[in-house]
Amino acid sequence: MFLRCPRSKASVWISALCGLVLCWLYIYPVYRLPSDKEIVNEVLQQGEVWKKNETGINLFRKLMKACCDPQKMFAVTKENSPLGSVLWYDGELYHSRTVNNDTYPLFVQETPLQLPLKKCAVVGNGGILKRSGCGRAIDQADFVMRCNLPPLSKEYTEDVGTRTHLVTANPSIIEKRFQNLLWSRKAFIDSVKAYGNSYIYMPAFSMKPGTEPSLRAYYSLADSGSNQTVLFANPDFLWSVGRFWKGRGVHAKRLSTGLFLVSLALGLCEEVALYGFWPFSVDLRQRPISHHYYDNVLPFSGFHAMPEEFLQLWHLHKSGILQMHVEACARESS
Ligand SMILES: *[C@@H]1O[C@H](CO)[C@@H](O)[C@H](O)[C@H]1NC(C)=O
Ligand SMILES: *[C@@H]1O[C@H](CO)[C@@H](O)[C@H](O)[C@H]1NC(C)=O
Ligand SMILES: *[C@@H]1O[C@H](CO)[C@@H](O)[C@H](O)[C@H]1NC(C)=O
Repeated sequence: MFLRCPRSKASVWISALCGLVLCWLYIYPVYRLPSDKEIVNEVLQQGEVWKKNETGINLFRKLMKACCDPQKMFAVTKENSPLGSVLWYDGELYHSRTVNNDTYPLFVQETPLQLPLKKCAVVGNGGILKRSGCGRAIDQADFVMRCNLPPLSKEYTEDVGTRTHLVTANPSIIEKRFQNLLWSRKAFIDSVKAYGNSYIYMPAFSMKPGTEPSLRAYYSLADSGSNQTVLFANPDFLWSVGRFWKGRGVHAKRLSTGLFLVSLALGLCEEVALYGFWPFSVDLRQRPISHHYYDNVLPFSGFHAMPEEFLQLWHLHKSGILQMHVEACARESS
């Protein structure tokens, strides 16, 4: 008895230790991401030839449909979230919200997009867009998606274009830029006018503190008679897209908004072109660039895994499933 006790204690400790190591490996897997410089070199080697791969595009659309069904699921609708159903927050453990008479009327009946969308442009906010002259190419797409209410004022038009059909708005932006919409709503209403009558896509049910500001954004727009429709991102969709990319080796705590949008576009569009996706501090000719095309505020590190995401997108570019623009556009079209 006296002898057995310490031994079983030891085995408890050993298995606890093993458990810890396994957890550690799960969170921080042993693999080496290429350095920024290696990635840039690989992009340079690829050159500028790009060929659309119809088979690859169809295959990827099927994969997206099987995992995440973007067509039906990307937004919370009356159809996929009827009264009494439960929305599980995808960014939190075990938090949910039951659809009740307060929230149900705010949902659109069904996915409002005219599908299939033909040529889609997904515009990230990378500093690579500055002086790119890509505005015209972006505006020529049939459906333009942008991230996080980016500025579209005149000084940027030439580089980022003017048209928008869907723009994401994270609750954190509502909090930081518009005092959580607890005071005047005018600044918010004026600021979203830049997006014409585009959809405002909000992850209202990802983190609990994000729900109230998202609902306030909905009411602010509705009460001001705005043309914009707020679509709430369906947390089931965000969760399944996250799992899809995790299965392909993206180990971030949370995917970037950009990768969610690209996934959505790959599921809904016949052709996808990306602009402003370039998470490195120098361009292809080693010139330093700012973090965003409009400022140089760096993000929290460790939350998203941008270079990792970039590599995934670059693989899709190389196999002709989407086209990434990482250089000035005038050169590409001439
Ligand atoms: C086209 O896409 C398919 C499926 O991803 C892939 O197997 C194939 O190699 C691609 N073709 C080219 C030319 O990249
Ligand atoms: C929700 O609203 C419907 C119609 O307005 C009403 O019939 C129903 O009783 C309400 N349910 C609850 C739980 O308040
Ligand atoms: C709403 O859209 C219509 C047609 O697109 C336009 O004529 C009208 O001026 C817009 N209203 C507002 C408030 O933006």
